[in-house]
Amino acid sequence: MKDTQTTATAQQRPPCTERIFSFDDASLSPLTVLEDPTGESGLGTGATVWDAALVLAKYLERRMTTTTTTTTTTTTEPDSGSATATVRWSRRPLPRPLHCVELGAGTGVVGLALARLLRARSSAMGTQTQDSVVLTDKPSLLELLRTNVARNFGGNGDDGMATDGLVQVQALDWTQDADAQAIPRPIDLIILSDCVYHQPLHDALAHTLDQLAGPETEILLVHESRKFDEEAQFFAKLGVRFTFHDLKPEDMHPEWQSEDIHAFSARRR
Ligand SMILES: C[S@@+](CC[C@H](N)C(=O)[O-])C[C@H]1O[C@@H](n2cnc3c(N)ncnc32)[C@H](O)[C@@H]1O
Repeated sequence: MKDTQTTATAQQRPPCTERIFSFDDASLSPLTVLEDPTGESGLGTGATVWDAALVLAKYLERRMTTTTTTTTTTTTEPDSGSATATVRWSRRPLPRPLHCVELGAGTGVVGLALARLLRARSSAMGTQTQDSVVLTDKPSLLELLRTNVARNFGGNGDDGMATDGLVQVQALDWTQDADAQAIPRPIDLIILSDCVYHQPLHDALAHTLDQLAGPETEILLVHESRKFDEEAQFFAKLGVRFTFHDLKPEDMHPEWQSEDIHAFSARRR
């Protein structure tokens, strides 16, 4: 898997490393996000761009560029083999307009990549974007998220709102029920990368997904496997309420996948 380019910037205090995320489509401006892979900022794991984030962002790019037409056939059987009658969730076009929430967004690179792709989709159709991408994390990460929104989507950086309202930043601590309740509905898509890393948070994360997901919400979850048994327990618990199917290597970007990074699409049962 290729790494993205990193350069130090002199003007910033930690997080002070600039990470550039480029799209395959060279007409899309690359994203530049600030991160702190050294941990000096004290912001914790969220200040680093994790590999799972890059895998999810690249998956989203691939999905948005390979599924441009509207698909009318639907199924509740995600892995049904009938290619003529059904389309796997992971190969369906994302709804238009799309209302997406990212959990544990960290630097925000995944949601920002999606926002860039959504804006390009709207301009290709000659319409103003009615999509929304809400980047969420614990309150301590919100300043970094707001900075990264402003760097890539304008706005004043104070409220985390992009100039056209496409991207917003909002606090969502998985342990606080009221935070999830305050997220605007409807939610078509929930994205999360590398958020299954800490077993004591598993119940809170599962509860948050349960609070947010409606009957039509798709959840795209990508995580790097580190403690297989604990992760298996998390997915077993979540499986009571959600149906999962794993994204296959052929669903993923050919260069942005790895054996220890697992990607799932899930929906409420
Ligand atoms: C390993 S980092 C992943 C960051 C980013 N998604 C990525 O893949 O680069 C885990 C993320 O979960 C967030 N997180 C941890 N505990 C949380 C909680 N109780 N509520 C919300 N987010 C939390 C962290 O702040 C961090 O952004």
